[in-house]
Amino acid sequence: MADLATLVSGIAAEMQAMPHRGAVADYIPELAKVSADHFGLVVIDADGQEHSAGDADTRFSIQSVSKLFALVEALNRDPDAVWRRVGREPSGSAFNSIVQLEAEGGRPRNPFINAGALAVTDLLTSDDDPRAGVGAILRLVRSLAGDDSIATDGAVAYSEAATGHRNAALAHFMKAHGVVRGSVEACLSTYFHQCAIAMSCRQLARAGRFLAHGGIDPASGRTITSPERTRRINALMLTCGHYDASGEFAFRVGLPAKSGVGGGILAIAPGRASIAVWSPGLSPQGNSLLGTLALERLAHAMGWSVFNPDA
Ligand code: DON
Repeated sequence: MADLATLVSGIAAEMQAMPHRGAVADYIPELAKVSADHFGLVVIDADGQEHSAGDADTRFSIQSVSKLFALVEALNRDPDAVWRRVGREPSGSAFNSIVQLEAEGGRPRNPFINAGALAVTDLLTSDDDPRAGVGAILRLVRSLAGDDSIATDGAVAYSEAATGHRNAALAHFMKAHGVVRGSVEACLSTYFHQCAIAMSCRQLARAGRFLAHGGIDPASGRTITSPERTRRINALMLTCGHYDASGEFAFRVGLPAKSGVGGGILAIAPGRASIAVWSPGLSPQGNSLLGTLALERLAHAMGWSVFNPDA
């Protein structure tokens, strides 16, 4: 098996030299300012050793990776409430698709497409205290990463709020169907602020460790989710974490993972590693182009795959 430290730096060097890096998201104007030249990679192995390369400590907008932490928080509070509102089926549609929601009576296919994430965020949002939802998600990621400096980037949140008309349409449509129950404005504001949380690959990889270790955070020994729930969250990441490219990601990488349009991906090799990668250029489906390629290289070289019984 490849030496992890050598592999991580080799993959980063290869990715840093790649001429075709994908297009940085520009539908959120603030994200368009980020250079496509960044590349960061952190792998935390089962012994807790951190292997890092490139821009491993540069913070970026985690965007849809936040949907994972919002889901963990909502499931820990009331799993039945989550599954009453949201399905567990891959959508085969774009992350911000509207058409499927109407065809299916306002019930989102899964918690990782925007509609499903908005419904989950509504469960965390209190109309009396609009900061409560994002506060809960921040508390979770700060404690998992062991870093209280993790925060929302206000400029990114504002930029998305000013342009997030599709998300507003999704939230209003679900309100009409009783899937969003609280104030649409409070739900959207929480969602835009959770997406604007800024984290580095190192912080993200640390925050993902419990998913690689049966729900227990190896850094603190704390139980974050039960083993069964952890398996299920990983199943959702594998089947839905990359939207209409989830099948392709499973085919190429074979690991549960959640992507964001900031170019970050958190991937889990169960029992083996928590991996965070960042490269802001995206595929047409809105997933990091080189982030996916880097994970493909890493998983292949290490033999890491949920479909590999010997891994
Ligand atoms: O709602 C949006 O459009 C963004 N805040 C998040 C979308 C996203 O990250 C999709 N992921 N690849």
